[in-house]
Formats: sequence, structure tokens, C-alpha cells
Amino acid sequence: MSVKKIKPLPLDKILFSQGFGTRRHCSNLVFAERVKVNGALIDNPELLIALEDLILEVEGVEWAYQEKAYVTFHKPMHYECSHKTKHHPSVFTLLPPPLVEREIQCVGRLDQDTTGLLLMSDDGQFIHQMTTPKKNIGKVYKIQTAELITSAQIEQLLNGVILDDDPKPCFATQCSQEAEHQIVMTIVEGRYHQVKRMLAAVGNHVIELHRSAIGNYQMPADLLEGQWRWLSLQDIEKLYSR
Ligand code: URA
Repeated sequence: MSVKKIKPLPLDKILFSQGFGTRRHCSNLVFAERVKVNGALIDNPELLIALEDLILEVEGVEWAYQEKAYVTFHKPMHYECSHKTKHHPSVFTLLPPPLVEREIQCVGRLDQDTTGLLLMSDDGQFIHQMTTPKKNIGKVYKIQTAELITSAQIEQLLNGVILDDDPKPCFATQCSQEAEHQIVMTIVEGRYHQVKRMLAAVGNHVIELHRSAIGNYQMPADLLEGQWRWLSLQDIEKLYSR
């Protein structure tokens, strides 16, 4: 079997692809000796660079080359998942500028008062696969409720509830009670305020909402609120597995 060789690319083009500004700005960074490639200072922006295991250092900050960006982020409370926010700061203000510059998007939105696992990417196909209900990828939420949870409510959530914008019922694919006012529920769709509306439909009310996992990928316990990291290939496999 032949292994496809990735073509080396000019350094300024690589920097541009990683979100370090316009091609001209990237060239100027190299001319100004602000860029290292695998530890070596380079002053020629047109130098062809191999992409395999490439580590850039731009203005003193290390940056592993990523053809596409796949990011896991721990969303804090009171941040909005859009660029044009209404009442709270944007989650994008918590990311390094190159990620924002390369137009990374949220993979499905969380409400401003929801915390937890938020994926981000600039790969449109990945975003679609993670969000389409057709792929059956479960999103797991830990839910704190105002009213006592009853087994009838859990049954209703599993059997399907009707929300006001769609006659098709909405199901929890899994739902278990953790405490008197706490359940863990998995859904595969991402309708607007879906969890809150499902709980309201069974006569309860969400007071805290936290997303802990997608597929078999759990948010890393050591990823603190507001922090991000690259997803590894193994993480991405877990996202797709059930
Ligand atoms: N469902 C909601 O109601 N809010 C979220 O943020 C995510 C799912």
C-alpha cells in the first residue's frame, strides 16, 4: 500500500492557513525573524516546509500545525456561543486569535447559562456529522431541576415529548436519576433550548445544565472552565462511537 505524501508548502502559506493573518503579514513575520520552524529560526517566507509533525513558533508562542482545527472547550457560565453576542461576552474571546482568525465555529450551541463540553472546528463536514440527528451521536447532559424528579417524568422523557415548534416527538435516548433533583439525560438532536423545553414539557424546570460528554468522549476532568485543547485522533474516534 502506498502512503500518500503530503506536499511541502511555503512557510507564509502555512502561517496563513493557521490563522496568523494575511499572507503579507505572515511574510513580514518571517522577514522580521519572529517565526521558528521545529526550533530553527527561518527568514525566508517562501521556504518549502514539510507539514508532518510540524511545530511552529510564532512570536515566542509554540503552535502545532493542524490541517483542520478540532478543539474541545470547557464553556463557562454567562458566555454566548456566537460572534455577534447580545448580552454576554463571546466564547471566542477565550480562544487564541489564530483560532478565531481561521473561522473556527461552535459545533452546536450551548445557552449562555449552560456549562461544559463545547466542540469547535473549521471542518464543515465534521460539524455536520456531529450535529445531524441521522448520525445518532449522543449529547449527555447533567441536569439540576427545580422540582422533584418522578419516575413518570423519566418515562415520559424516554417515550418522547412534544415541543411546541414541531409535531414530531423529542426523545431522550437515555435518562437516569442521580439524585432527587438531578438526572443525566442523553439526546441526539440539537433543537433550540431542547433540554429545557423537554423538562418543561414534563412539568419540571431546569435550574442548572451541564454537558459532560458527546458520544463516548467525556470532557477531560483537568480541563478547567474557559480552557481549550486540541482533540486527538483517539478523542475524535470516541466522539463517533456509541
Ligand atoms: N438544551 C438546552 O436547553 N440548552 C442547552 O444549552 C443545550 C441543550
